[in-house]
Amino acid sequence: MNVLFEQIDRVVIAKLNRPSALNALNSETMYELISKLKKYDQSPSVGCIVITGSENVFCAGADIKEMASKNFSQMFEEDYFGYWEVFSKIKTPVIAAVSGYALGGGCELAMMCDIILASETAVFGQPEIKLGVIPGIGGTQRLTSLVGKSKAMELILSGRNIEVEEAEKIGLVSKIFPQTNFLTNVIKYAKDLANYSKTALIASKESINQSLECSLKDGIVFERRIFHSLFNTKDQKEGMNAFLEKRSANFNSMYQLKN
Ligand code: CAA
Repeated sequence: MNVLFEQIDRVVIAKLNRPSALNALNSETMYELISKLKKYDQSPSVGCIVITGSENVFCAGADIKEMASKNFSQMFEEDYFGYWEVFSKIKTPVIAAVSGYALGGGCELAMMCDIILASETAVFGQPEIKLGVIPGIGGTQRLTSLVGKSKAMELILSGRNIEVEEAEKIGLVSKIFPQTNFLTNVIKYAKDLANYSKTALIASKESINQSLECSLKDGIVFERRIFHSLFNTKDQKEGMNAFLEKRSANFNSMYQLKN
């Protein structure tokens, strides 16, 4: 199996598992990852997904061995990388837990996630220019929207590595965690998040993503309508009543898994 899946409470952990190719994403791995996550996305018992690799490498990119001999017609007819669009439609919050290299498609996978939590050893980069191509899983688009045109140009045209401190400074990485107990701490973070109302998590994600697609005026109306709609949920009543009653809110009691 190229990806190992485990569910701990309301958190699903997907661990890339191709050590001999530094977790490079071949078609099989991509299919395994996305098709399984699509199912978890629909489960009410899942409040957060974590994608990770090993301690030394998150993912070294798309599989160069698989791509090297392909011609234009093959890439075009297969719509190579087209299946990643399914990944970008996942509604459940997705955290990339990056330790070690996240290069090319690895960096793009991290950017497709909603939050990037990185260990002190994480190294990012879009080195495709060195292979005579450009990023193909959204790197030119998502990196630009994260760090701005000038920085994205500098990074993609040079293909240089980005150390984790710089990645955090430019807004690529959400938060840096110590290397020691990295994954344990990421899972703890994910568990806290997963215990919030799934409806409100999805609504937050949808509204933030909408801001990238529309004007401020339209985005504000979109947000307000979603805000209004949440007053028709049990979770809004639970959250606000819990505050007034000075107790912790319990949003997902009916979906808690037994350990
Ligand atoms: N695809 C296929 N195999 C890969 C790979 C990749 N992206 N990255 C590494 N591997 C393989 C190597 O070929 C090697 O296999 P063999 O033992 O069979 O030769 C094995 O993984 C170990 O790699 P290295 O010996 O190179 O390990 P290293 O520790 O010396 O270097 C590294 C690590 C700096 C990450 C280096 O492997 C590297 O530069 N990898 C390629 C990074 C890259 O260019 N990524 C972009 C790919 S293209 C892309 O992603 C397009 C896109 O937009 C989606």
